[in-house]
Amino acid sequence: MIFPVNSDYTDKNPSLGALYAGHLETLTARHDHALEQAGASHVIIYSGNPKVAFLDDNFYPFKANPHFVSWAPLTKLPFSYIVYTPGETPLLLYYQPRDYWHVVPGPPEGYWTRHFDIRIVNAIEDVAELLPAQREKCIVIGEIEDATLAYGVERINPNTAINIVHYARSTKTDYELAIMRLASKRGAMGHRAAEAAFRAGLPEFEIHRAYCQAVGHTDYELPYGNIIALNEHGAVLHYTDLERSNPDTCHSFLIDAGAQVHGYASDITRTYSFDDTRFQDLIDRMDVMQREIVNRVEVGVDYRDLHVDTHRMLAEVLVDAELATGDPDTLLESGVTTAFFPHGLGHLLGIQVHDVAGFMENESGTAIDPPSGHPFLRLTRVLEENMVLTIEPGLYVIDMLLEKLSDTPAEKLINWDMVNWLRPFGGIRIEDDVRVMINDRENLTRDAFAAAS
Ligand code: GLY
Ligand code: MN
Ligand code: MN
Repeated sequence: MIFPVNSDYTDKNPSLGALYAGHLETLTARHDHALEQAGASHVIIYSGNPKVAFLDDNFYPFKANPHFVSWAPLTKLPFSYIVYTPGETPLLLYYQPRDYWHVVPGPPEGYWTRHFDIRIVNAIEDVAELLPAQREKCIVIGEIEDATLAYGVERINPNTAINIVHYARSTKTDYELAIMRLASKRGAMGHRAAEAAFRAGLPEFEIHRAYCQAVGHTDYELPYGNIIALNEHGAVLHYTDLERSNPDTCHSFLIDAGAQVHGYASDITRTYSFDDTRFQDLIDRMDVMQREIVNRVEVGVDYRDLHVDTHRMLAEVLVDAELATGDPDTLLESGVTTAFFPHGLGHLLGIQVHDVAGFMENESGTAIDPPSGHPFLRLTRVLEENMVLTIEPGLYVIDMLLEKLSDTPAEKLINWDMVNWLRPFGGIRIEDDVRVMINDRENLTRDAFAAAS
């Protein structure tokens, strides 16, 4: 499958253009509030700059400041600044150097441009005179490693302002939701291509290439390193090695891979059995469980409860699959479910794959701790309308965790013969991206797969 050349994923997409003004209105209101609380008059948002590898003259891939990306779909525009003053059209200092070594950003174009006062900057020294003269009334948001890039502004990333914007960013605007639906569709196309490559018996590296080809991303454009795991590699939670050769026997395939549109991510996991019916039954059972959890996502739900309840539901799966015996509370309290499912149920999703503010109780930044015994949970909040989050339960054979249960009461609750059977398959994870609604939810991932079939 070849990535289709169309304009849906670009800033020429008219339906995104129609939503952009509303997004900007929300964004400016958030920054008005942040500036007021921080006692400042202007916010200067720096896009960032590429970093050079230690003792080298090569750059790491450039990753733009997510705050900058939230204002406009400009993911590849280093050394640039957005200056926002309440009540005024935002100013964009668009850095377009005279450089024949590298590709220079083209002229600004797209649906977002008419909402900005855009000044082309050819030399970084020209930024100074375009910034508000009263630097003491400014704050900067961005990664400033070289103080000269703050142009005399002393308040860099003040917590008051940052916390307000971070907290707000966890609920998505209609514009962001439309982009994230596109990112899900893009990812689903990649997953279809990857599954076909797996069925054709290709090794991990080739499956990865088929995925990248289908989504039209280079490795650096992927929102995170693809997890393309055959057989027992599926038990390594963040497996990113990409084995070049085939395993002797192909049992299973776990793929955790996303795509991005305008810097917004999708984050999708699927697990496949090559030809083992029993493993397929277990995948199907996990799929039923995952959909039950998704169906509980709605405004007002405490995500911590969802996570702990998932452990109870997983206990039932373990019993049904004859991997363990005992009632759900015993399997939870004895650490059995955690040994099979050691990560969190999911996280907020947006410009960052693990989006900001997963622990924030309020805009002041008070943190909500994960439940005791569940330190890896990255979302501890009560769900709000238009948050986008992942639901990604898993079940793995991770020997280093299971071994810890030896000589504890949990040891007898586990059916070790079945663990030995499951080990060559690695594990199962099923991950969807879900939008929170009032008494309802939107499953971006399942919708995208349905549209892709
Ligand atoms: N792909 C990373 C995660 O699922 O959180
Ligand atoms: Mn995830
Ligand atoms: Mn994932």
